[in-house]
Amino acid sequence: MKRRSFLTGLGAAGVAGAVGGLSAPALLSSAGRAWAQSGEIPVGLLFSLTGEVAVVERTLHDAALLAIEEINAAGGVHGMQLKTFIEDPASDPATYADRARRLFIRDKCVSVFGSYTSASRQAVLPVVESRKGLYWYPTLYEGRECSRNIMYGGAVPNQQQQEFVPWLFENFGGRFYLLGNNYVYPKEENNVCRMILERLGGEVVHEEYVPMGHSDFSSVINRIRSNTPDVIFCTLVGDSDVAFARQYHAAGFDPEKMPVASLTRSEVEVAAIGGDAAAGHLSSAPYYMGYSSPENERFVEAYKSRFGSNQVTHFVSEAAYFQVYQFKAALEKLDPANITPEAIRDAAGGIAINAPQGEVVIDPNLHTHLWPKIARWKSDGQAEILVQSAERVAPDPYWAYEGEVCTGEGLVRS
Ligand code: ACM
Repeated sequence: MKRRSFLTGLGAAGVAGAVGGLSAPALLSSAGRAWAQSGEIPVGLLFSLTGEVAVVERTLHDAALLAIEEINAAGGVHGMQLKTFIEDPASDPATYADRARRLFIRDKCVSVFGSYTSASRQAVLPVVESRKGLYWYPTLYEGRECSRNIMYGGAVPNQQQQEFVPWLFENFGGRFYLLGNNYVYPKEENNVCRMILERLGGEVVHEEYVPMGHSDFSSVINRIRSNTPDVIFCTLVGDSDVAFARQYHAAGFDPEKMPVASLTRSEVEVAAIGGDAAAGHLSSAPYYMGYSSPENERFVEAYKSRFGSNQVTHFVSEAAYFQVYQFKAALEKLDPANITPEAIRDAAGGIAINAPQGEVVIDPNLHTHLWPKIARWKSDGQAEILVQSAERVAPDPYWAYEGEVCTGEGLVRS
């Protein structure tokens, strides 16, 4: 862990192929002229509407679509409408890559908004880089990535853990049980957690990973019972988190003594878990539905009125929504005859917009400065915010790793 970042505390984490004989950039710039002529700007939505991650990704799709509809209703950008191409990758990483290819090559999308898991982002990465496209990824992730073709809207570990782990240590104790699904995101987050914890003098009493979609936690619960940790540090995603939360509650554990502290649990998972089983447990995230700001009141009202009064907003759908507005702000800086993915990317650094969570800013490293908050879930399915960072926190995707920094020129190693 970079000592500088850790010691300065929250709020001061450091500054922050060829197709048909034509190269991809040539295709994209000729497409740029076509957009101006047709009066439309093609954008892609690549969120799963079917399969195991649809429960979350449908809400991301809806939030991004809402922003596109709002922008078009207000006259579009440079007088041009955003034309939406929708693909459903059916929760399968290989299909994400295939559909991304379709959106960038066939549909000539100037930007694609998509995906929840790091596995799907990693599947899209070689496609978007080889096509010189631009992919707007709204989800919290593990960091250690610095693509110049991805706009990262979600929190990286320093924006979720830097304040959270010391706070848990102080309030509950230093014996952590690390539990996640078996893929890159939970493993990297747990590496960071372990580093912070050991620095504080705490310890990991057990670390384990279950397959994606795993739903029988009886043996995990037995191990938790026998290890008697102070905190269950949880990076389970989607259905696994829902199943675990219910079984943990049914096993009779008291959240005041042994809380589940999650980096992924939001209003959408809590709605599936049920308020009583979720109540008392903790999350760290930059946005909660009940956060009080005029921008959030407008977002929640518009979302419910478009998709149903029983729907919830959450920290990843908020980012899916505000990233479309960041995209719009970048387009507005460009000459309409010169709208290419790389021009949008180059215009995006430094853009500040008033998001529902507060003012968010795009770093030159293409990650986003965010407002971390620690919250406790209530039985009505909403979060009580306990700690809010005094300052916006800069994204440092290599925060835990000495000698590596993600910059406006890409990854720099010293
Ligand atoms: C994640 O896989 N980035 C939650």
